[in-house]
Amino acid sequence: MSSALPHDRLPLAYGGDYNPEQWPREVWEEDVRLMREAGVTVVSLGVFAWARTEPRRGTYDWEWLDTIIGMLHAAGISVDLATPTVVPPAWFYRAHPDALPVTRDGVRLAFGSRGAICHSSADYRAAAASITTKIAERYGSHPAVVLWHVHNEYGAPVLTCYCDNCAAAFRLWLQDRHGSLDALNEAWGTAFWGQQYGDWEEITPPRTTPTVCNPTQQLDYQRFADAQARANFVAERDILHRLSPGVPVTTNFMVAPSQCQSIDYWAWAAEVDLVTNDHYLVTDGRRTHVNLALTADLTRSVAGGGPWLLLEHATSGVNWQPYNPAKLPGEMARNSLSHVARGSEGAMFFQWRQSRSGAEKFHSSMLPHGGTGTRVWNEVVELGRTLGELADLRATRTHGNVAMIWSWESMWAQSLEWRPSEDLDARERLESFYEALYDRHLTVDFFAPSGIGGLDPERYPLLVVPQLYAAPASVAADLESYVARGGTLVVSFFSGIVDENDTVHPGPHPGVLRDVLGLTVEEFSPLLPGEKVTVGTGTGETYEADLWAEVVVPNGCETLATFTDGRTAGHPALTRHVLGEGTAWYLATRLTGDSLAAVVDLALADAGIAPSGLPRDVELVVREGESGTFRFAINHTDAEVKVTLPDGSRACVPAGAVEVFRDPR
Ligand code: GLA
Ligand code: ZN
Repeated sequence: MSSALPHDRLPLAYGGDYNPEQWPREVWEEDVRLMREAGVTVVSLGVFAWARTEPRRGTYDWEWLDTIIGMLHAAGISVDLATPTVVPPAWFYRAHPDALPVTRDGVRLAFGSRGAICHSSADYRAAAASITTKIAERYGSHPAVVLWHVHNEYGAPVLTCYCDNCAAAFRLWLQDRHGSLDALNEAWGTAFWGQQYGDWEEITPPRTTPTVCNPTQQLDYQRFADAQARANFVAERDILHRLSPGVPVTTNFMVAPSQCQSIDYWAWAAEVDLVTNDHYLVTDGRRTHVNLALTADLTRSVAGGGPWLLLEHATSGVNWQPYNPAKLPGEMARNSLSHVARGSEGAMFFQWRQSRSGAEKFHSSMLPHGGTGTRVWNEVVELGRTLGELADLRATRTHGNVAMIWSWESMWAQSLEWRPSEDLDARERLESFYEALYDRHLTVDFFAPSGIGGLDPERYPLLVVPQLYAAPASVAADLESYVARGGTLVVSFFSGIVDENDTVHPGPHPGVLRDVLGLTVEEFSPLLPGEKVTVGTGTGETYEADLWAEVVVPNGCETLATFTDGRTAGHPALTRHVLGEGTAWYLATRLTGDSLAAVVDLALADAGIAPSGLPRDVELVVREGESGTFRFAINHTDAEVKVTLPDGSRACVPAGAVEVFRDPR
């Protein structure tokens, strides 16, 4: 991954997906004029325009694209130019119906929406390379083009295909991963249920089976599907690098836990020149701004702490949920500036002008059906002005102050069938621990399990491992070293259980975490739906827990709380292990809300992190660097709040507002 967009070519990005192919020419003039009025600096162009640009195989219509890119350039608006490879045209599928993906049940999906792609189709790959080459040849050195937008949201709406082309590609991928059939049989544990393979040709994708399909076969298929799509991204990227040297190449991620979980973004981040992300609020009754903060922190983390860009969010409601409330006045700016506070180089939207036709005509946009007389438009213009004043933010970065482990591979493994409880949910634990830290006004940097070697306890006094079911053996030494050097580690149940092949680590649970935690787990005893257990501390507090209980056997750790009822009554529920200069905490049940927060507070005290004193739902996030220190105070409450600045002064943040305080230099 290289670094930022070229500083001299792009101010803080503000704009959105622009789909002029949906509109007559007169509208284009108005679009460009209004973009200028709104302070738009960059638009994503041509994401879905393959059929418009290549209406018949080998016949190209460049005139419209030449014209609109010219108009944007003349107006000083930069272009994030897309390869339209997420939407092969109807003529393509007519000629190559086997490029349409097949479900696990053998159903071939049809043309008529978008993203209907088998990533193993040689015909698709050839056609994608061809249109990418043509576009790059034509616009690769156009001065308006500052970023390449490959495809759209790989993984959505479908990543995995189970067709015969994929079966053949899977066998090659397996030969590469495992080397020999013996190694594959060992890794997949095929001795169980008599599944040994004697020839590569016998192996199929994990299609619908009578009962549970081999878990490692499923896990490897998920990895394979991710790798196939990634290879197709890399193929386009390499064409763009060759024909458009110096212009960074991205593809829009969807790292939010509620959005796309079928992609291993740690692996993808290593392939893009700039990490970009799309984020949409999910109205599920929880505080949407907490999910937003998590997503922004996670995006910054996959970008290695470097710059990233919010490539899409919504000005107001979306239209793909069962119920799509409009954003409240001020909410769009709070959302946008929260992403910027957490490291984004701007704020972009889906989409510029609201469509009159098609599947997304009720999705909000910068320029709504109602036109320029609307609240949304007024707020869009105001946000453009605000971002315009923050241009020198680009030389600053956001730094987290606590660490968490995040692993898509572990989540894939854990989500397979026949676990001790079907309610085990790694994402829920990750989000709950994040929320507890967010409520203590801490900014989280996430790490892959392979990324914690040498983690500095001074820089990150706290490291949380909410549910790392599948943990590589290397994690053990890295965590022990972190704790021994003074770190405070918090591990939650059902972590460290299996290796990368979903094979249980040898010896008692929790496998590779036994030594660092100073305990073993003899037996799991998950709770039934609605069942609760009580956890009591030696000092008289009691917490209510659900979902999970287990029999913990201390082996060097101290017991801070025990189960006081239920099947595991009398056994430890919360332990603490002193190791070298640090401590390792273990929580053997699911605490939520205030109970989880209380335990997090105990660990924070161990880590020497003092309470912030800020009110709930007020964020204070710092970006710093060459151009100074910017403190973003984001007030999600409906009351005015006061925040204390480093010089001791008290500053006022009105209800629902964002204030950016710049330290005097
Ligand atoms: C995604 C897509 C866009 C649009 C939005 C709507 O992020 O990339 O094309 O469909 O969702 O929310
Ligand atoms: Zn396929």
